[in-house]
Amino acid sequence: MIINWFPGHMAKARRLIEDNLKVIDVVIELVDARIPLSSTNPMIAKLIGQKPSIVVLNKSDLADPECLKEWMAWYKQQGRLVIAMDSKGGKGVKQLTALAQQLAKPKLDHWKARGLKTRSVRTMILGIPNVGKSTLINKLSHRNVAKTADKPGETKGKQWVRIGNQLDLLDTPGVLWPKLEDQVSAYRLAATGAISDTVFDMETVMTQLITELSRWYPQALMTRYKLTELSDDPLVTIDMIGHKRGCIVAGGVVDLEKTYKLILKEFREGKIGPISLDRVAEMTEGAI
Ligand code: G4P
Repeated sequence: MIINWFPGHMAKARRLIEDNLKVIDVVIELVDARIPLSSTNPMIAKLIGQKPSIVVLNKSDLADPECLKEWMAWYKQQGRLVIAMDSKGGKGVKQLTALAQQLAKPKLDHWKARGLKTRSVRTMILGIPNVGKSTLINKLSHRNVAKTADKPGETKGKQWVRIGNQLDLLDTPGVLWPKLEDQVSAYRLAATGAISDTVFDMETVMTQLITELSRWYPQALMTRYKLTELSDDPLVTIDMIGHKRGCIVAGGVVDLEKTYKLILKEFREGKIGPISLDRVAEMTEGAI
């Protein structure tokens, strides 16, 4: 799999986030509920340090409810505050505001007790590209904030949006680079759309995706594509789907590129079903 990611961007992005974090009291860490650990930047814990933080499992509407429950339990077991969210639909948004305010309270009380002039508590969203940062900012602020460039390191002047009583949100989220060293995570990031289609090998991603879907969600896959069986060979299954969907070129041969795109699009839109790719038991030592 070819991944184009430049260390220069990473260093610049990290510096920018570190700089912004200096004025932040509460961090909102956004991950993709379908791939919570694969969509976690490896450096995030170090960047956040001792600041109060909330993990948001976004796109939970697209995730397998059972896996979602297991991930929620796992994060809680790690001592993290965690919320399942659907930023697009708005589910979880009120709960997030309430929790952020709750986390901010000790700081406000501290200022008050010391007779200091209080200011609002400042919060910031961090996450890899496409995880839903802009969508969440828009929902929280009830306004249309421009989509941020996904290029790490790009920024504009600091602007704050009020999201609750004495709580302000930085309207520019911190864009972190995804975890690409691990090939399984890289494929899952590609499948869910976190990595641009131009930087991965489609056949590798699709054979892995169909292998995992056949293992964990065989019925959903068969129902969606009206198949009576699945093959042990993912490429044969893809071929069957291509035939069913009429992705055919001259000579009755399946147009693989077209079939890949079709399956990928439907998977990303949740049309095959609510599906999770990261699993607690597979990805964590202690499981739950
Ligand atoms: P980013 O700032 O982190 O880069 O992500 P952004 O908000 O742009 O969201 C990326 C895509 O994910 C968008 O889809 C957005 O609608 C979708 N999205 C964000 N949160 C959720 C969620 O909780 N559930 C679901 N199902 N989708 C979510 P898009 O295809 O790029 O645009 P569009 O669908 O809004 O037209």
